[in-house]
Amino acid sequence: MEETVNVQPARLHELIQEKLSRAGLRKDQANLVAEHLVFADACGIHSHGAVRVDYYAERIAKGGVTLDPDIMFERTGASTGIVHCDNGVGQYAALNALDYAIDMAKESGAAIVGAKRISHCGTLSYYVKRAAEENLIAISMCQSDPMVVPFGGSENYFGTNPIAFAIPREQGAPVVFDMATTVQAWGKILDARSKNQQIPDSWAVDADGEPTSNPHAVQGLLPVAGPKGFGLMMMVDVLSGMLLGLPFGKNVSSMYTDLTEKRNLGQIFILIDPNRFTDLPSFKHSVETMVGELHEIAPAVGFKQVYYPGETNQINYEQYMSKGIPIAEKILDYLESDTIHFNQYGGTGSFATI
Ligand code: NAI
Repeated sequence: MEETVNVQPARLHELIQEKLSRAGLRKDQANLVAEHLVFADACGIHSHGAVRVDYYAERIAKGGVTLDPDIMFERTGASTGIVHCDNGVGQYAALNALDYAIDMAKESGAAIVGAKRISHCGTLSYYVKRAAEENLIAISMCQSDPMVVPFGGSENYFGTNPIAFAIPREQGAPVVFDMATTVQAWGKILDARSKNQQIPDSWAVDADGEPTSNPHAVQGLLPVAGPKGFGLMMMVDVLSGMLLGLPFGKNVSSMYTDLTEKRNLGQIFILIDPNRFTDLPSFKHSVETMVGELHEIAPAVGFKQVYYPGETNQINYEQYMSKGIPIAEKILDYLESDTIHFNQYGGTGSFATI
Protein backbone atom coordinates (compact mmCIF):
# COMPACT_ATOMS: atom_id res chain seq x y z
CA MET A 1 0.00 0.00 0.00
CA GLU A 2 1.32 3.42 -1.01
CA GLU A 3 1.94 5.74 1.96
CA THR A 4 -0.26 8.85 1.93
CA VAL A 5 -0.24 12.04 3.96
CA ASN A 6 -3.31 14.14 4.75
CA VAL A 7 -2.77 17.61 3.26
CA GLN A 8 -5.07 20.61 3.69
CA PRO A 9 -6.38 21.87 0.31
CA ALA A 10 -4.95 25.39 0.82
CA ARG A 11 -1.49 23.97 1.54
CA LEU A 12 -1.62 21.67 -1.47
CA HIS A 13 -2.69 24.61 -3.64
CA GLU A 14 0.19 26.72 -2.37
CA LEU A 15 2.77 23.98 -2.99
CA ILE A 16 1.54 23.31 -6.54
CA GLN A 17 1.39 26.99 -7.40
CA GLU A 18 4.92 27.57 -6.09
CA LYS A 19 6.33 24.61 -8.01
CA LEU A 20 4.73 25.64 -11.30
CA SER A 21 5.85 29.25 -10.81
CA ARG A 22 9.37 28.02 -10.13
CA ALA A 23 9.21 26.08 -13.42
CA GLY A 24 8.40 29.35 -15.20
CA LEU A 25 4.61 29.59 -15.32
CA ARG A 26 2.99 33.00 -14.71
CA LYS A 27 1.53 33.27 -11.22
CA ASP A 28 -2.08 33.77 -12.38
CA GLN A 29 -1.85 30.65 -14.57
CA ALA A 30 -0.10 28.62 -11.87
CA ASN A 31 -2.94 29.59 -9.55
CA LEU A 32 -5.57 28.24 -11.98
CA VAL A 33 -3.69 24.99 -12.57
CA ALA A 34 -3.26 24.54 -8.81
CA GLU A 35 -6.98 25.05 -8.23
CA HIS A 36 -7.77 22.49 -10.93
CA LEU A 37 -5.35 19.84 -9.63
CA VAL A 38 -6.50 20.27 -6.02
CA PHE A 39 -10.07 19.81 -7.26
CA ALA A 40 -9.09 16.54 -8.96
CA ASP A 41 -7.37 15.15 -5.86
CA ALA A 42 -10.27 16.31 -3.68
CA CYS A 43 -12.67 14.36 -5.92
CA GLY A 44 -10.45 11.30 -5.52
CA ILE A 45 -9.37 11.57 -9.20
CA HIS A 46 -5.74 11.12 -8.13
CA SER A 47 -4.64 10.13 -11.64
CA HIS A 48 -5.20 13.79 -12.63
CA GLY A 49 -4.22 15.65 -9.46
CA ALA A 50 -0.89 16.61 -7.87
CA VAL A 51 0.74 13.54 -9.48
CA ARG A 52 0.82 15.56 -12.73
CA VAL A 53 2.84 18.51 -11.36
CA ASP A 54 6.24 16.91 -11.96
CA TYR A 55 5.41 16.30 -15.63
CA TYR A 56 3.79 19.74 -16.09
CA ALA A 57 6.80 21.46 -14.48
CA GLU A 58 9.26 19.66 -16.76
CA ARG A 59 7.24 20.55 -19.89
CA ILE A 60 6.89 24.19 -18.77
CA ALA A 61 10.60 24.44 -18.00
CA LYS A 62 11.48 22.95 -21.40
CA GLY A 63 9.26 25.36 -23.36
CA GLY A 64 6.63 22.77 -24.32
CA VAL A 65 3.82 25.23 -23.48
CA THR A 66 3.50 28.90 -24.46
CA LEU A 67 4.03 30.85 -21.25
CA ASP A 68 2.35 34.05 -22.43
CA PRO A 69 -0.23 32.74 -24.91
CA ASP A 70 -2.01 35.01 -27.33
CA ILE A 71 -5.53 33.64 -26.75
CA MET A 72 -8.02 34.78 -29.39
CA PHE A 73 -11.78 34.16 -29.59
CA GLU A 74 -13.21 33.75 -33.07
CA ARG A 75 -17.01 33.78 -33.11
CA THR A 76 -18.11 31.69 -36.07
CA GLY A 77 -21.91 31.85 -35.64
CA ALA A 78 -24.73 32.69 -33.23
CA SER A 79 -23.85 29.71 -31.03
CA THR A 80 -20.43 28.64 -32.24
CA GLY A 81 -16.84 29.72 -31.85
CA ILE A 82 -13.21 28.72 -31.70
CA VAL A 83 -10.79 29.87 -29.06
CA HIS A 84 -7.29 29.85 -30.50
CA CYS A 85 -5.24 28.93 -27.45
CA ASP A 86 -1.68 29.26 -28.78
CA ASN A 87 -0.63 26.13 -26.83
CA GLY A 88 -1.04 27.86 -23.51
CA VAL A 89 -1.03 25.67 -20.41
CA GLY A 90 -4.10 23.43 -20.74
CA GLN A 91 -6.18 24.53 -17.77
CA TYR A 92 -5.72 28.26 -18.42
CA ALA A 93 -6.50 27.92 -22.13
CA ALA A 94 -9.49 25.62 -21.62
CA LEU A 95 -10.99 27.87 -18.94
CA ASN A 96 -10.75 30.81 -21.31
CA ALA A 97 -12.71 28.83 -23.90
CA LEU A 98 -15.24 27.68 -21.31
CA ASP A 99 -15.90 31.24 -20.15
CA TYR A 100 -16.66 32.30 -23.73
CA ALA A 101 -18.95 29.27 -24.09
CA ILE A 102 -20.83 30.06 -20.87
CA ASP A 103 -21.49 33.66 -21.95
CA MET A 104 -22.60 32.52 -25.39
CA ALA A 105 -24.93 29.80 -24.06
CA LYS A 106 -26.60 32.26 -21.70
CA GLU A 107 -27.07 34.70 -24.55
CA SER A 108 -28.18 32.38 -27.34
CA GLY A 109 -29.43 29.25 -25.55
CA ALA A 110 -26.60 26.95 -26.60
CA ALA A 111 -22.92 27.11 -27.36
CA ILE A 112 -20.42 24.90 -29.10
CA VAL A 113 -16.92 26.23 -28.55
CA GLY A 114 -13.66 24.54 -29.46
CA ALA A 115 -10.40 25.16 -27.61
CA LYS A 116 -7.83 24.83 -30.40
CA ARG A 117 -4.16 24.09 -29.68
CA ILE A 118 -4.04 23.47 -25.96
CA SER A 119 -1.81 21.41 -23.73
CA HIS A 120 -3.02 18.63 -21.39
CA CYS A 121 -6.20 19.94 -19.76
CA GLY A 122 -6.53 17.46 -16.85
CA THR A 123 -9.83 16.17 -15.52
CA LEU A 124 -12.87 17.23 -17.57
CA SER A 125 -15.05 17.17 -14.45
CA TYR A 126 -13.72 20.56 -13.41
CA TYR A 127 -14.97 22.33 -16.55
CA VAL A 128 -18.39 20.74 -16.88
CA LYS A 129 -19.12 21.21 -13.19
CA ARG A 130 -18.26 24.89 -13.46
CA ALA A 131 -20.71 25.32 -16.35
CA ALA A 132 -23.46 23.40 -14.52
CA GLU A 133 -22.97 25.68 -11.52
CA GLU A 134 -24.05 28.42 -13.95
CA ASN A 135 -27.30 26.47 -14.53
CA LEU A 136 -26.21 25.08 -17.91
CA ILE A 137 -26.06 21.50 -19.13
CA ALA A 138 -22.46 20.83 -20.12
CA ILE A 139 -20.64 18.28 -22.26
CA SER A 140 -16.91 18.30 -22.89
CA MET A 141 -14.50 16.03 -24.75
CA CYS A 142 -10.79 16.19 -25.49
CA GLN A 143 -8.02 14.43 -27.35
CA SER A 144 -5.18 12.57 -25.71
CA ASP A 145 -2.13 10.80 -27.11
CA PRO A 146 -2.50 7.55 -29.10
CA MET A 147 -2.13 4.63 -26.71
CA VAL A 148 -5.26 2.57 -27.38
CA VAL A 149 -5.74 -0.28 -29.85
CA PRO A 150 -8.92 0.00 -31.93
CA PHE A 151 -11.40 -2.86 -31.42
CA GLY A 152 -10.03 -5.82 -33.36
CA GLY A 153 -6.65 -4.13 -34.01
CA SER A 154 -3.13 -4.65 -32.68
CA GLU A 155 -1.64 -1.17 -33.15
CA ASN A 156 -2.40 1.98 -31.19
CA TYR A 157 -4.50 4.61 -32.89
CA PHE A 158 -6.71 6.66 -30.51
CA GLY A 159 -6.10 8.24 -27.13
CA THR A 160 -7.96 7.57 -23.90
CA ASN A 161 -10.22 10.39 -25.18
CA PRO A 162 -12.50 11.29 -22.27
CA ILE A 163 -16.07 12.59 -22.34
CA ALA A 164 -17.84 14.33 -19.47
CA PHE A 165 -21.34 15.61 -18.75
CA ALA A 166 -22.77 17.78 -15.97
CA ILE A 167 -26.31 18.83 -15.16
CA PRO A 168 -27.59 21.26 -12.54
CA ARG A 169 -29.93 19.98 -9.85
CA GLU A 170 -32.23 21.51 -7.27
CA GLN A 171 -30.18 20.72 -4.18
CA GLY A 172 -26.53 20.00 -3.82
CA ALA A 173 -23.75 20.02 -6.39
CA PRO A 174 -24.42 19.27 -10.08
CA VAL A 175 -24.42 15.67 -11.26
CA VAL A 176 -21.08 15.12 -13.04
CA PHE A 177 -20.29 12.05 -15.10
CA ASP A 178 -16.78 11.89 -16.54
CA MET A 179 -15.02 8.91 -18.11
CA ALA A 180 -12.00 7.97 -20.19
CA THR A 181 -13.12 5.76 -23.08
CA THR A 182 -10.62 3.04 -22.10
CA VAL A 183 -11.22 0.23 -19.59
CA GLN A 184 -8.66 1.83 -17.29
CA ALA A 185 -6.65 5.02 -17.30
CA TRP A 186 -2.91 4.73 -18.00
CA GLY A 187 -2.28 5.86 -14.43
CA LYS A 188 -3.72 2.58 -13.13
CA ILE A 189 -1.20 0.57 -15.18
CA LEU A 190 1.61 2.76 -13.83
CA ASP A 191 0.35 2.12 -10.33
CA ALA A 192 0.41 -1.67 -10.91
CA ARG A 193 3.94 -1.39 -12.36
CA SER A 194 5.18 0.46 -9.31
CA LYS A 195 3.77 -2.28 -7.07
CA ASN A 196 4.73 -5.15 -9.39
CA GLN A 197 1.12 -6.29 -9.34
CA GLN A 198 -0.64 -8.24 -12.08
CA ILE A 199 -3.50 -6.50 -13.88
CA PRO A 200 -6.70 -8.10 -15.23
CA ASP A 201 -6.09 -9.16 -18.84
CA SER A 202 -9.11 -7.12 -19.94
CA TRP A 203 -7.27 -3.81 -19.50
CA ALA A 204 -4.45 -3.83 -22.03
CA VAL A 205 -2.43 -5.66 -24.70
CA ASP A 206 1.27 -6.38 -25.22
CA ALA A 207 3.46 -5.61 -28.27
CA ASP A 208 1.79 -8.45 -30.24
CA GLY A 209 -1.68 -7.10 -29.52
CA GLU A 210 -2.34 -10.01 -27.12
CA PRO A 211 -4.17 -9.40 -23.83
CA THR A 212 -1.67 -9.21 -20.98
CA SER A 213 -1.80 -9.30 -17.21
CA ASN A 214 1.82 -8.10 -16.94
CA PRO A 215 1.76 -4.30 -16.45
CA HIS A 216 5.39 -4.03 -17.62
CA ALA A 217 4.46 -5.59 -20.98
CA VAL A 218 1.64 -3.15 -21.75
CA GLN A 219 1.94 -1.51 -25.18
CA GLY A 220 -1.70 -0.62 -25.79
CA LEU A 221 -4.82 0.04 -23.74
CA LEU A 222 -8.22 -1.46 -24.59
CA PRO A 223 -11.40 0.54 -25.27
CA VAL A 224 -14.11 0.23 -22.61
CA ALA A 225 -16.84 -2.27 -23.64
CA GLY A 226 -15.09 -3.28 -26.89
CA PRO A 227 -16.66 -1.76 -30.01
CA LYS A 228 -18.77 0.65 -27.97
CA GLY A 229 -15.84 2.39 -26.28
CA PHE A 230 -13.96 2.26 -29.57
CA GLY A 231 -16.83 4.05 -31.32
CA LEU A 232 -17.02 6.63 -28.55
CA MET A 233 -13.29 7.39 -28.63
CA MET A 234 -13.44 7.94 -32.38
CA MET A 235 -16.35 10.38 -32.03
CA VAL A 236 -14.51 12.22 -29.22
CA ASP A 237 -11.45 12.59 -31.46
CA VAL A 238 -13.55 13.80 -34.39
CA LEU A 239 -15.52 16.35 -32.34
CA SER A 240 -12.66 17.69 -30.22
CA GLY A 241 -9.82 17.49 -32.76
CA MET A 242 -10.66 16.85 -36.41
CA LEU A 243 -13.55 19.35 -36.32
CA LEU A 244 -11.08 22.04 -35.23
CA GLY A 245 -8.64 21.18 -38.02
CA LEU A 246 -6.17 19.57 -35.63
CA PRO A 247 -4.10 16.36 -36.00
CA PHE A 248 -6.23 13.30 -35.22
CA GLY A 249 -5.92 9.58 -34.51
CA LYS A 250 -2.34 8.31 -34.51
CA ASN A 251 -1.04 11.81 -35.39
CA VAL A 252 -2.13 13.35 -32.08
CA SER A 253 1.04 14.46 -30.28
CA SER A 254 2.55 12.31 -27.56
CA MET A 255 2.59 13.41 -23.95
CA TYR A 256 6.05 12.10 -23.17
CA THR A 257 8.04 11.92 -26.42
CA ASP A 258 9.41 15.47 -26.72
CA LEU A 259 8.63 17.90 -23.93
CA THR A 260 10.07 20.84 -25.88
CA GLU A 261 7.33 20.49 -28.52
CA LYS A 262 3.88 22.09 -28.20
CA ARG A 263 0.98 19.62 -28.00
CA ASN A 264 -1.61 21.17 -30.36
CA LEU A 265 -4.51 19.32 -28.71
CA GLY A 266 -8.21 20.06 -28.99
CA GLN A 267 -11.10 20.21 -26.53
CA ILE A 268 -14.75 20.99 -27.15
CA PHE A 269 -17.49 22.42 -24.95
CA ILE A 270 -21.16 21.90 -25.76
CA LEU A 271 -23.42 23.90 -23.45
CA ILE A 272 -27.22 23.98 -23.35
CA ASP A 273 -29.47 26.36 -21.43
CA PRO A 274 -32.32 24.16 -20.05
CA ASN A 275 -34.58 27.24 -20.03
CA ARG A 276 -34.78 27.05 -23.82
CA PHE A 277 -36.49 23.63 -23.60
CA THR A 278 -38.29 23.66 -20.27
CA ASP A 279 -38.19 26.00 -17.31
CA LEU A 280 -35.05 25.72 -15.23
CA PRO A 281 -36.70 25.12 -11.81
CA SER A 282 -38.75 22.17 -13.10
CA PHE A 283 -35.73 20.73 -14.90
CA LYS A 284 -33.63 20.92 -11.74
CA HIS A 285 -36.52 19.46 -9.75
CA SER A 286 -36.77 16.52 -12.17
CA VAL A 287 -33.03 15.85 -11.83
CA GLU A 288 -33.49 15.89 -8.04
CA THR A 289 -36.40 13.44 -8.36
CA MET A 290 -34.27 11.11 -10.49
CA VAL A 291 -31.41 11.22 -7.99
CA GLY A 292 -33.86 10.48 -5.17
CA GLU A 293 -35.41 7.56 -7.06
CA LEU A 294 -31.96 6.11 -7.79
CA HIS A 295 -31.12 6.32 -4.10
CA GLU A 296 -34.28 4.40 -3.22
CA ILE A 297 -33.43 1.41 -5.42
CA ALA A 298 -32.58 -1.66 -3.36
CA PRO A 299 -28.85 -2.41 -3.68
CA ALA A 300 -27.70 -5.59 -5.44
CA VAL A 301 -25.78 -8.22 -3.50
CA GLY A 302 -22.34 -6.88 -2.61
CA PHE A 303 -23.38 -3.21 -2.95
CA LYS A 304 -24.18 -0.78 -0.14
CA GLN A 305 -26.40 1.53 -2.21
CA VAL A 306 -26.95 2.94 -5.67
CA TYR A 307 -24.94 6.13 -6.18
CA TYR A 308 -25.89 8.51 -8.99
CA PRO A 309 -23.11 8.82 -11.62
CA GLY A 310 -20.27 10.85 -10.15
CA GLU A 311 -21.65 10.75 -6.62
CA THR A 312 -18.64 8.96 -5.17
CA ASN A 313 -16.40 11.78 -6.44
CA GLN A 314 -18.70 14.39 -4.91
CA ILE A 315 -18.67 12.54 -1.56
CA ASN A 316 -14.85 12.56 -1.66
CA TYR A 317 -14.83 16.24 -2.57
CA GLU A 318 -16.98 17.29 0.39
CA GLN A 319 -15.00 15.18 2.83
CA TYR A 320 -11.50 15.96 1.57
CA MET A 321 -12.06 19.71 1.17
CA SER A 322 -13.01 19.96 4.83
CA LYS A 323 -10.75 17.31 6.40
CA GLY A 324 -7.71 17.26 4.10
CA ILE A 325 -6.73 15.31 0.98
CA PRO A 326 -4.71 12.05 1.00
CA ILE A 327 -1.61 12.67 -1.11
CA ALA A 328 1.08 10.08 -1.82
CA GLU A 329 4.10 10.78 0.38
CA LYS A 330 6.52 10.79 -2.56
CA ILE A 331 4.41 13.42 -4.36
CA LEU A 332 4.41 15.62 -1.27
CA ASP A 333 8.18 15.19 -0.91
CA TYR A 334 8.61 16.35 -4.49
CA LEU A 335 6.27 19.34 -4.03
CA GLU A 336 8.10 20.42 -0.88
CA SER A 337 11.51 20.18 -2.59
CA ASP A 338 13.18 22.77 -4.88
CA THR A 339 13.47 20.19 -7.65
CA ILE A 340 12.37 20.73 -11.25
CA HIS A 341 13.16 17.64 -13.31
CA PHE A 342 14.59 18.02 -16.80
CA ASN A 343 14.98 14.43 -17.89
CA GLN A 344 12.37 12.48 -15.98
CA TYR A 345 9.59 12.34 -18.56
CA GLY A 346 10.95 13.21 -22.00
CA GLY A 347 11.86 10.66 -24.65
CA THR A 348 9.92 7.74 -23.21
CA GLY A 349 7.14 7.64 -25.80
CA SER A 350 3.52 7.20 -24.74
CA PHE A 351 4.34 4.35 -22.40
CA ALA A 352 6.45 6.19 -19.85
CA THR A 353 8.25 3.87 -17.51
CA ILE A 354 7.69 6.07 -14.47
P1 NAI B 1 -13.48 6.41 -13.42
O1 NAI B 1 -13.52 5.09 -14.12
O2 NAI B 1 -12.85 6.46 -12.09
O3 NAI B 1 -14.98 6.96 -13.28
C1 NAI B 1 -15.83 7.14 -14.40
C2 NAI B 1 -17.16 7.74 -13.93
O4 NAI B 1 -17.89 6.74 -13.22
C3 NAI B 1 -17.01 8.92 -12.98
O5 NAI B 1 -17.96 9.92 -13.28
C4 NAI B 1 -17.28 8.31 -11.61
O6 NAI B 1 -17.82 9.24 -10.69
C5 NAI B 1 -18.32 7.28 -11.97
N1 NAI B 1 -18.38 6.21 -10.98
C6 NAI B 1 -17.36 5.45 -10.54
N2 NAI B 1 -17.79 4.57 -9.61
C7 NAI B 1 -19.11 4.79 -9.47
C8 NAI B 1 -20.14 4.19 -8.67
N3 NAI B 1 -19.87 3.22 -7.81
N4 NAI B 1 -21.39 4.66 -8.80
C9 NAI B 1 -21.67 5.67 -9.65
N5 NAI B 1 -20.76 6.28 -10.42
C10 NAI B 1 -19.49 5.84 -10.34
O7 NAI B 1 -12.81 7.53 -14.35
P2 NAI B 1 -11.73 7.32 -15.52
O8 NAI B 1 -12.42 6.79 -16.71
O9 NAI B 1 -10.57 6.57 -14.97
O10 NAI B 1 -11.29 8.85 -15.80
C11 NAI B 1 -10.55 9.56 -14.80
C12 NAI B 1 -10.34 10.99 -15.21
O11 NAI B 1 -9.36 11.07 -16.23
C13 NAI B 1 -11.53 11.77 -15.74
O12 NAI B 1 -11.69 12.91 -14.93
C14 NAI B 1 -11.14 12.18 -17.16
O13 NAI B 1 -11.63 13.47 -17.53
C15 NAI B 1 -9.64 12.19 -17.03
N6 NAI B 1 -8.94 12.01 -18.30
C16 NAI B 1 -8.32 13.09 -18.88
C17 NAI B 1 -7.62 12.95 -20.05
C18 NAI B 1 -6.94 14.13 -20.67
O14 NAI B 1 -6.15 13.94 -21.58
N7 NAI B 1 -7.19 15.34 -20.25
C19 NAI B 1 -7.49 11.66 -20.72
C20 NAI B 1 -8.22 10.60 -20.06
C21 NAI B 1 -8.89 10.78 -18.88
